[in-house]
Amino acid sequence: MDCCVLTALWYLIPLCLLICLAIFIVADADFTLLWASRFGHEPENKLKGKVVWVTGASSGIGEELAYQLAKCGARLILSARREDELNRVKRHCLECSDLQSDSILVLPLDLMERSSHEEKTKAVIQHFGHIDVLVNNGGRSQRSLATEASIDVYQALMELNFLGTVSITKQVLPHMIQQGCGAIVTVSSISGLMGVPLATGYTASKHALQGFFNSLRIELSEHPNILISLVCPGPVVSQIVQNVFTEQLNKPLHSPGNQDHKMPTSRCARLMLVGMTNGVNEMWISQQPFLLLCYLWQYTPTFGRFIMNSFGRRRVRNFQAGLDADSSYFRKLKTS
Ligand SMILES: NC(=O)c1ccc[n+]([C@@H]2O[C@H](COP(=O)([O-])OP(=O)(O)OC[C@H]3O[C@@H](n4cnc5c(N)ncnc54)[C@H](OP(=O)(O)O)[C@@H]3O)[C@@H](O)[C@H]2O)c1
Repeated sequence: MDCCVLTALWYLIPLCLLICLAIFIVADADFTLLWASRFGHEPENKLKGKVVWVTGASSGIGEELAYQLAKCGARLILSARREDELNRVKRHCLECSDLQSDSILVLPLDLMERSSHEEKTKAVIQHFGHIDVLVNNGGRSQRSLATEASIDVYQALMELNFLGTVSITKQVLPHMIQQGCGAIVTVSSISGLMGVPLATGYTASKHALQGFFNSLRIELSEHPNILISLVCPGPVVSQIVQNVFTEQLNKPLHSPGNQDHKMPTSRCARLMLVGMTNGVNEMWISQQPFLLLCYLWQYTPTFGRFIMNSFGRRRVRNFQAGLDADSSYFRKLKTS
């Protein structure tokens, strides 16, 4: 190699590393997803006319996803338990898009009532003829110590987040295999990648989803046109904290705290649409420092665990002292 090339490399490599570092500091998603959002297909061009079933569409991420999908021209099935809230979301979808009323089906559904899932899926097929995308988004989180949480809470978390999602997926999958294409997009969490204190059951249910769908993707490798995508958001503005399971099944959380530190719901939904449009298998959607934690946990697990331990201890102490565990925990992370 001649001297000029070596000199150029000497300057170019550190410059590229600096650019990557600068991008990473302001990143709110993993590099694959950011690449897709910069250079990939636009959701608007790909989702028009598609039939998309969104569970958990009555609030938070699912609600916002419904609005953005409607703007893209997708036909929608909106599911959750609260029919009045789903009708409100439908009205807003119609206001913000060119869709006709019969392009949006409100389909009340309890993910924990697995015996109803076959009939619900039939109702969707009867209305639209087929399903292009299933977004497994409905779910609840947890805020309680493992030593205090009742086993019923663990059962409910697994029934809802894991078995409910698997059950709907098993109903929809044969249709997608028959039609030879489709997408199953499942909202896991960064809790599906790492350990999170005060959420042992929630974290277990999201790890279970990761295991199920990562294995299913391999089983379906002979059906390359069926996308199995996992979405791992960090903290996002929604009703999730208000709806958490505590130590007892029907005991509400005393104070949900503020959500200032969280990612806007619209940004999370947009990145999800970009990911599903571009066939991304796993999406990490999170602001810093949580995105950094994902990378550390994945690529340097010992160091990732060390960092999580120190902040996790603080989170547990705040919770035990009756403080808002999340806000003080996140403030500490943000300022560190
Ligand atoms: N927000 C975050 O920070 C965050 C981070 C990582 C992952 N996530 C995941 O994102 C997904 C959406 O949560 P979100 O943050 O948007 O919270 P959310 O605002 O509380 O929304 C949860 C949705 O799930 C539905 N749901 C709850 N129990 C259900 C059941 N038994 N059957 C059917 N639907 C049910 C709720 O509707 P009904 O009450 O009307 O049934 C609601 O529409 C969840 O899977 C959550 O784990 C959220």
